[in-house]
Amino acid sequence: MSNSGTNLDLETALRGAEARYAAANPASRAAFEAAQAHMPGGNTRSVLYYPPFPLTLTGGEGCHVTDADGHRYIDTISEQTAGLYGHSNPTIERAVIEALRHGIVLGGPTPREAELADLMCGRFPALEQVRFTNSGTEANLYAVCAARAVTGRPALLAFEGSYHGGVLSFGGYGAAMNAPFPAVLAPYNDPARTLELIEAHAGELAAVLLEPMVGSGGCIRADDEFVRALREATARHGIVLIFDEVMTSRLAPGGLHSVLGVQPDLLCLGKYLGGGLSFGAFGGRAEIMARFDPARPDAFGHAGTFNNNVLSMAAGIAGLRDVLTPEASLRINRDGDRLRARLNGLLAARGVPGTVTGYGSMMMIQLAEGTYLRPRDTARVPPAARALCQLEMIAQGIYVSRRNMFNLSLPMGDAEFDRIAGAFDAFLAEYGRVLG
Ligand SMILES: Cc1ncc(COP(=O)(O)O)c(C=O)c1O
Repeated sequence: MSNSGTNLDLETALRGAEARYAAANPASRAAFEAAQAHMPGGNTRSVLYYPPFPLTLTGGEGCHVTDADGHRYIDTISEQTAGLYGHSNPTIERAVIEALRHGIVLGGPTPREAELADLMCGRFPALEQVRFTNSGTEANLYAVCAARAVTGRPALLAFEGSYHGGVLSFGGYGAAMNAPFPAVLAPYNDPARTLELIEAHAGELAAVLLEPMVGSGGCIRADDEFVRALREATARHGIVLIFDEVMTSRLAPGGLHSVLGVQPDLLCLGKYLGGGLSFGAFGGRAEIMARFDPARPDAFGHAGTFNNNVLSMAAGIAGLRDVLTPEASLRINRDGDRLRARLNGLLAARGVPGTVTGYGSMMMIQLAEGTYLRPRDTARVPPAARALCQLEMIAQGIYVSRRNMFNLSLPMGDAEFDRIAGAFDAFLAEYGRVLG
């Protein structure tokens, strides 16, 4: 950062930061331009794009990543929560290498999927039975399809601004690519309006799909009263209550639902539970999941060449059994609470309007005043403020996403938290005036 208080306004400040970023990252720019030859926008995963061009990463180790220009960063993106274990956990690495040595496309059941299913059902109270998929998107699609099949109803109630996968996205990119389920959208954390909508559409609703803390939607937790109201209304109307804990299951040893004390009928999981490899899972009440028993004459089908791929199963087992013990889960979430309080303290001390929202090891910087009750509140933050925060944290060696979401990983410790807080404080000192 080298702006020295000369910023006149946010847009001017951002243009300066972009120019410095472009000058510092010529190899990333060249890689981005080369990637455009055969991929639209040089991209195969929309969230990874940000202007003027994204950093091209070449490696990772512990809680650090390295880019094409040779910069080394503390990684606060942590692969959008999937990188919980860090980039080179030796226990997971050993498990993957061991699995690789014995054949990776076996084409039959292996003991591994049953072991991972046991571990997960032992950990998450809502899981009586579980099935594996290749991504969180697929897990949510199967959960919604299961709800439609068991209820015989077509529609889904989801929450404005929530994200459940690229084809189940109710904010951000808009609905053009969404799976064509009839959807009723309700405001998050608004029990009165949501109950009205449930009552009005009860005859059509197969499922209510809730992320108990919206992750990409702003790191805003569902209120206890709101969740209890959803549980009560869905039970009364025979609607399947699905919790999407693809991100939030990392927030407590038993997932966020274990903290909320409310059991969904179905639970969707993904991200870190594959140990860093492709992964998803859906499960829940045995009464619903039993319909996937292929020996039943009325069985629901559930296919997927790689559902039980040995590498994801091996990495997932090693991670959950040997690395993310309940104590480790409590520790990383306590660290997250402390870091969030510290960043909030810096905002207050510098008099910069804003809040760091979140819970445990997931948080998001919101550079605008006011309370954050639902995803739409995050629209108060000027996009230029998010861009400036990202680029100026990157300039100080902290890898930050455009949405300014920070996810802790297990290798992070006090040294990293000090550097993150120091860089954020320097950013606020430099730009406090244009952010205010
Ligand atoms: C809450 C939530 N659900 C589902 C998904 C989709 O998971 P995947 O990217 O593995 O398809 C994501 C991904 O970010 C997510 O945050």
